[in-house]
Amino acid sequence: MKGIKVFQEKTYKELGDLYGLFFEDINHAADGGLYAELVQNRSFEFCEIDKPEYHRLTAWEKSRDCQWQILTEKPLNEENTHYLHVSANSGSYVANSGFNSSIFVEKDKEYTFSIYVRTSAKGAILKISVEDESRAVCAQAEVTLEASEEFVKYQVSLKGIATTWNGKLYITFEKDGTYDLDMVSLFPVDTYMGRENGLRKDIAQALADMKPKFMRFPGGCLTHDGALDDHARNSMYRWKRTLGPIEKRPSWRNNWRYNQTLGLGYYEYFCFCEDMGAKPLPVVPAGFNPHKGEGVALEEIGSWVQETLDLIEFANGDETTTMGKVRSEMGHPAPFGLEYLGVGNEEIGAGFFERYPYFHKAIREKYPDIKIINTAGPFAVGEGYEDGWRSAREHGSDLIDEHYYSSPEWFLANMHHYEDYDEKGPKVFLGEYASWGNTYYNAIVEAAYMTHLERSKAVALACYAPMLCNVDYVNWQPDMLWFDNHRIMKTPNYYVQKMFMENQGTDAAEFEMQELDEIIPLTDEVNLTGGITITGNDVTGSIWDVQVEEDGTRRSLEDLQITDNAQHELTNITGKKFSLTFKFKRDSGRKGLKIYFGKRDDKNFLQWEFGGWDNWDCNIGNISKGRGSTISHRIFHVEDMEYTLKLEVDGRHIKTYVNGENYNDVTDRLPEIEELYVTASVDKEQGTTIVKAVNLTGEEKNVLLSLDGGEKKQAEITSLAGCALDAVNTLDEPDNITTKKLHMTLIGNQLTYTFPPHSVTVMVFS
Ligand code: AHR
Repeated sequence: MKGIKVFQEKTYKELGDLYGLFFEDINHAADGGLYAELVQNRSFEFCEIDKPEYHRLTAWEKSRDCQWQILTEKPLNEENTHYLHVSANSGSYVANSGFNSSIFVEKDKEYTFSIYVRTSAKGAILKISVEDESRAVCAQAEVTLEASEEFVKYQVSLKGIATTWNGKLYITFEKDGTYDLDMVSLFPVDTYMGRENGLRKDIAQALADMKPKFMRFPGGCLTHDGALDDHARNSMYRWKRTLGPIEKRPSWRNNWRYNQTLGLGYYEYFCFCEDMGAKPLPVVPAGFNPHKGEGVALEEIGSWVQETLDLIEFANGDETTTMGKVRSEMGHPAPFGLEYLGVGNEEIGAGFFERYPYFHKAIREKYPDIKIINTAGPFAVGEGYEDGWRSAREHGSDLIDEHYYSSPEWFLANMHHYEDYDEKGPKVFLGEYASWGNTYYNAIVEAAYMTHLERSKAVALACYAPMLCNVDYVNWQPDMLWFDNHRIMKTPNYYVQKMFMENQGTDAAEFEMQELDEIIPLTDEVNLTGGITITGNDVTGSIWDVQVEEDGTRRSLEDLQITDNAQHELTNITGKKFSLTFKFKRDSGRKGLKIYFGKRDDKNFLQWEFGGWDNWDCNIGNISKGRGSTISHRIFHVEDMEYTLKLEVDGRHIKTYVNGENYNDVTDRLPEIEELYVTASVDKEQGTTIVKAVNLTGEEKNVLLSLDGGEKKQAEITSLAGCALDAVNTLDEPDNITTKKLHMTLIGNQLTYTFPPHSVTVMVFS
């Protein structure tokens, strides 16, 4: 009979903080998402640098009978330089439509409205209301103003009279006069853990329910994309600028093409981690923007390094330290207990690696206990990846941050990615990963991969990315948890993460499988036969001297003019071994070419990107069912010169040459399925034993589970099963895919269980 035997007393890896969360303010994850502020553009600071369509009055409207303008004389403060000046008649109003084009308020719930006003209209009343689309009042309050030449802050409570998710916030002027308004805020009182300036409860609670061991923030590319000047509108994310009273934080460009108020800043991130019981894992920029290839001069890097040291002091220093005092004055006298710190986020190129050592050395010297995380670029392989690992080994980084987004087929082909790692070197922080998609199939394939992560001695930390997405502001998908202004939707990927996270265990335990060792290939396509097509990647240019050699026979093909990204079909390959050689010169544009080969149809092919992404890459990608995975990466910038390019294929072994120099050399692995993916752990604190099993086959697996070692009597079994592979959750049907719980009794430390087809199962034995 098929069996799994767990050796409860033989543990081989401390699981530590293995499973955590990745937070990036992408897809409006913060403003209009986790950050509970209901007013969009509360300080009239939105502008076209944030997003071309934005202006200072984005999300605001007014009644016809008043005049308004944005002024900057005598602003609220130097960070908040624009305000709304209204010449109002009695009964006129200005209104804010919130995020997702409307505001959600609930009957009987409390809200805090606050505003800064400067007016000469002594005793004037502002009527504050949230009204639905028919202008029925759902919440209301009044503010009585004093005459003042300075801005005065007012705050009132509103109670929901009715529920609407289609509301607007109206500020109605009861008296003729002129009014300067700024920092208009409407906040639910019922935030996560009841914190002021807090977090949207449903989203935060769903994350806390996962029991993450850590949370990485604030990104992602958000960390390093932007100007080096920390007072520039489009600055990189600089942690110090996110502290202090919210009206004194800059509301500026978020690199995902919107505005970020920084109301959810570093202090709030640390508090959120603490509230969830997760360790904070901030990632700071290393003074280098890989998107522009722009870095701070090495003579000036000292201030960036100091800013990083200050962050550690902010988190861990006592109240007698400068930054510890800042933290304490913000409301948290006790240290946050920072253990991990990332320097850089998937940077590639020398610009990063020459700056990283300055940070590393300074942190090591001053804070030897902090675990420093280096970065291995955006792919699971290649030049950036190797450079990152080399740097991490050379400097003795504790961990290295790996990122990859790939097709499910890539995950199935690369389950053993971490098998050959030197377990004595830096540990892996898999800081961003996902298979492309939020279907049930994506989730169960990720679960299978996670069994290998858990077992690998190389992998110390892992988090799915991105975490949050507002359905009306999608920058990136898949995402773990989706929401609109009043609902959330947990994806199957969320459930998988949660199952693994809340049942992590403290130590991985050895196990043995009987009759469960079948490996099922998903395809027999051992050769890359099929079409070859060339297209420009936003360039024009010429291609000539085109030669194809297939199994010893050479043929010449016609010259090509590359325009409009049109696809040029060159030939069809039927053999095992072939090469394509041609000359190329770019006439206009910044990037290069895409050469598709092994093309079975428009969704399944291999791709050589010559001058890909932002003209940084010479990559080989596998596109499977329309979803790409990078399998080889080299840094390359195409220039306006003549190139001789050669693609050489033998079976699934691919080589590229640029002007005779070998650039890519990779074998494309085929996806396969293991009969049952299993990992076992024990929780030494709880006294439990945990088995996680993923069945990716379409058949039931009837298995005898036996536990060697201490006696266990019962099993709590959580499973994700019984769904179509392409099933998804939606906001309207959020529980289409969800987990189920079951309890079973063990007899003689044994249990027979049938793992359903296409299922993820977590068993906790106690
Ligand atoms: O997770 C989305 C983006 O993917 C991150 O910002 C970046 O680090 C990665 O390329």
